Amino acid sequence: MAIKVATFSGSLRKDSFTTKLVKAFVQLAPNEVDVNIIDISQLPLINQDLETNLPQSVKQLHSSIEQADAVLLATPEYNRSYSPVLKNALDWGSRPEGQNKWKGKPVAVAGCTPYQLGAFGAVHHLRQVLTYLDMPAMQQPEFYLGKAGDKFNDKGELTDQETKDLILQFWDAFIIWINKTS
Ligand SMILES: Cc1cc2nc3c(=O)[nH]c(=O)nc-3n(C[C@H](O)[C@H](O)[C@H](O)COP(=O)(O)O)c2cc1C
Repeated sequence: MAIKVATFSGSLRKDSFTTKLVKAFVQLAPNEVDVNIIDISQLPLINQDLETNLPQSVKQLHSSIEQADAVLLATPEYNRSYSPVLKNALDWGSRPEGQNKWKGKPVAVAGCTPYQLGAFGAVHHLRQVLTYLDMPAMQQPEFYLGKAGDKFNDKGELTDQETKDLILQFWDAFIIWINKTS
């Protein structure tokens, strides 16, 4: 049976490089993996008042996480941290208290930026939170896509062969990690 991976882009921007990267991960996924891109654009801002009657978008998020065997997170970098929309999704997935849906799900992280440093700061802030969410996070290989503006064509397709090779290696390692930790 296929390994189900739920993947999330930490950007809502129409022409987001991070979302283009997520789509490249989907396109290059091995046959044994079934990857779903989860829409987090409809989630309300985290607010405990809403927990008594969870919005439909939050229920959908919970069900997407529950159905997944593993999670792949791609994030842009905002002021050397990861994006608030991704934090919002992680927070909703951990609520209500005591019902953390992320717990135990193997996870891998990719950073993406049009600048040089590959969203290193974003990835490492994100890793800290994954520890508290009790998600076994793949450590190696790391994935930092810098200069993202040079890596995609006008249709948003990944054209850079080196990045394609890194994604394929990343998938190979992630499948081994999923099988080891789930
Ligand atoms: C509030 C804000 C803060 C940012 N801070 C950083 C940063 O710390 N490092 C970085 O590489 N890029 C930073 N950027 C630029 C983003 O990398 C760039 O806008 C990128 O295209 C966002 O990702 P996306 O293309 O997936 O939407 C920042 C952008 C915004 C809007």
